[in-house]
Amino acid sequence: MADARLGTLWVLHGVNLDMLGRRDPAVYGRTTLAELEALVREWGEAEGFTVRCFQTNHEGEMVEKLHELAGGEVAALLVNPGAWTHYSYAIRDALELVRAPLAEVHLSDIERREPWRRRSVVADLAVVRVSGRGVDGYREAVAALARLVREGRGA
Ligand code: DQA
Repeated sequence: MADARLGTLWVLHGVNLDMLGRRDPAVYGRTTLAELEALVREWGEAEGFTVRCFQTNHEGEMVEKLHELAGGEVAALLVNPGAWTHYSYAIRDALELVRAPLAEVHLSDIERREPWRRRSVVADLAVVRVSGRGVDGYREAVAALARLVREGRGA
């Protein structure tokens, strides 16, 4: 539901997510990253956010982006860190610098795949976690972040 502007929602996609559409469709679906970003933009704007997206395969570049966001105005952050989820303390530490409610989203159900995917080093930073809901999980996360921002908590 659209209402007063909520500020900027940053949507960050980590390593290998640029391969969506081509990457194991049985696990990740057929939606490309460009299509996913268009949907998230639509959902976010309908909630009242200004939406900005960023993807990189380079851990240092993601860290630099998070440093930039830590110094700016961010209303909410939605991140799918890809494989970095499971081991990158560098991404985790950089996420912690951004003072905004964080949603951790995974297309696949990381609890029901290989054991090493069950561990998320960013989980405790996230106020919203959605896993295994495919593209729709992004819609749920955007809606949950919008609720939190409206209620003025979660940061
Ligand atoms: C993922 C799950 C991760 O385990 C994997 O490394 C990814 C994508 C997901 O969206 O399901 O790259 O985050």
